[in-house]
Amino acid sequence: MTSPRTTNLSLVDTDPAELAVDAIVIGVHSQTGEQGATSGLAGTLLLASGAESIAAAFDGKLTETLALLGATGGPGEVIKLATLGTVTAPLVTAVGLGPEPSGAAPAPETLRRAAGAAIRALAGAPKVALALPLPDDADASAELRAVAEGALLGGYRFTGYKTRPQPTRREPVAEVLIAVPDAGDAGAQAEVVRAQVVASAVRLSRDWVNSAPNELRPPSFADAVASAAREAGLGVEVLDEAALAAGGYGGIVAVGQGSEAPPRLVKLTYTPQGSGNGKRVALVGKGITFDTGGISIKPAQGMWEMKSDMAGAAAVGAAMLAIAALKPSVAVSAYLPMAENMPSGTSYRPGDVITMFNGKRVEVLNTDAEGRMILGDAMARACADGTDYLFETSTLTGGQVISLGKRMAGVMGTPELCDRVKVVGDSVGEPAWPMPLPDDVRKGMESDVADISQVNAGMDRAGHMLQGGVFLREFVTDDVAWAHIDIAGPSYHSGEPTGYWTKGGTGVPVRTLVQLVEDVATNG
Ligand code: BES
Ligand code: MN
Ligand code: ZN
Repeated sequence: MTSPRTTNLSLVDTDPAELAVDAIVIGVHSQTGEQGATSGLAGTLLLASGAESIAAAFDGKLTETLALLGATGGPGEVIKLATLGTVTAPLVTAVGLGPEPSGAAPAPETLRRAAGAAIRALAGAPKVALALPLPDDADASAELRAVAEGALLGGYRFTGYKTRPQPTRREPVAEVLIAVPDAGDAGAQAEVVRAQVVASAVRLSRDWVNSAPNELRPPSFADAVASAAREAGLGVEVLDEAALAAGGYGGIVAVGQGSEAPPRLVKLTYTPQGSGNGKRVALVGKGITFDTGGISIKPAQGMWEMKSDMAGAAAVGAAMLAIAALKPSVAVSAYLPMAENMPSGTSYRPGDVITMFNGKRVEVLNTDAEGRMILGDAMARACADGTDYLFETSTLTGGQVISLGKRMAGVMGTPELCDRVKVVGDSVGEPAWPMPLPDDVRKGMESDVADISQVNAGMDRAGHMLQGGVFLREFVTDDVAWAHIDIAGPSYHSGEPTGYWTKGGTGVPVRTLVQLVEDVATNG
């Protein structure tokens, strides 16, 4: 089910022109305006720093040759050129970085996407070196981290379920070298180690999301997370259907009762050295292994993508493995509620009133709003255990995709914490936008019979994404700063591969969660 293959990564500080690799990747910038117009075809293209010795080996003709081959330097563009003995590597690969940056190097996300695009395009080449522009004067850690992550994620491929080998499919790059000014630098080495840890977590969460929903159901998903977590030295507690019923987890039980494969709640605990900085963080992720909609069944078109409705739990579980390896000085607990939302004779139904873990009663109006039912319980449990911060992430609403598109997550919760998610998301290349929790949306969810309706009482779709946030707020205690990150769009990529994203699970928001935990460990 998971891909055993990994990508090896190391640093080099020798001349890129003399590296014994199958391909050497350089960056090219697009050049517009007068500069470009005055110097002919090659004038539209500018070699990025890092490519100097390669350019010298081509006697000053490299830019012109690349331009002849159609290179424009546009972001994501990949042009390959046989070197015919000019440098040691048989192939030079120019990856587009867009316009030349005003600062020392392109933005980290530009580098991350370029490294990913180049490594994807070079599938079939066993060993590749990246000579991309990194700032040499200032601290280059953010840029190096980005290049390393982009390369490792561009080398990801889901092994899938094909019974026969695919002779036409080229193997992903197995070994990547990154050219840096000083390969022995301790800070640079630490970035490589961190990138390997984080990228393995992203790759694992992609594997879980890409797994077929008949293979990954709540019991097997719980087993997979629990065994990986035990191996990583985390504390593990798994509640089965009996324990969930006995514990009063009404929402998880209700959603899970329609399926033959019973629900689970997995709790993972990371305990820092000493008592860390005294702060506690809780992570919660939606683990619907398949969302048919239940009795309020979804249309057939595209329903298969609902195998990705456990992307939040996958990201949280994988992020915990990275946290176990990175050892930040803060206590972290993770809660992964898992259920399969199916229509059957035992399903929960519209009109049902469910008593949740915190005692609140919810009137069900649409069984397809199942995520908030399992999350409400898990978030209330996290608050009951005690925490200072609660980050919850879920493929919660189609409204997120309508409002913010396929790349930008929506964030709702305590305003300061939402802003922190935005800042961290921007810094890791997983953008997220703070959204409000308006009073009128809460008013629309007043139930005639229970404490709250699960959705707008008239099933009005106004403020669709916000209804999810407003509902979840009911399950967080006042002393806890919280943020709900709706990843319905960015967690799954249905288009053609781009940058370091392949088709399918993206691993969003693993990198945000890891960075948030590190941020709380450092800054409280
Ligand atoms: N898992 C879906 C949300 C979703 C939609 C995720 C598209 C990824 C892509 C969620 O459980 C759902 O069905 N939401 C409903 C909520 C409605 C019934 C209140 C929706 O978005 O329509
Ligand atoms: Mn649903
Ligand atoms: Zn769902």
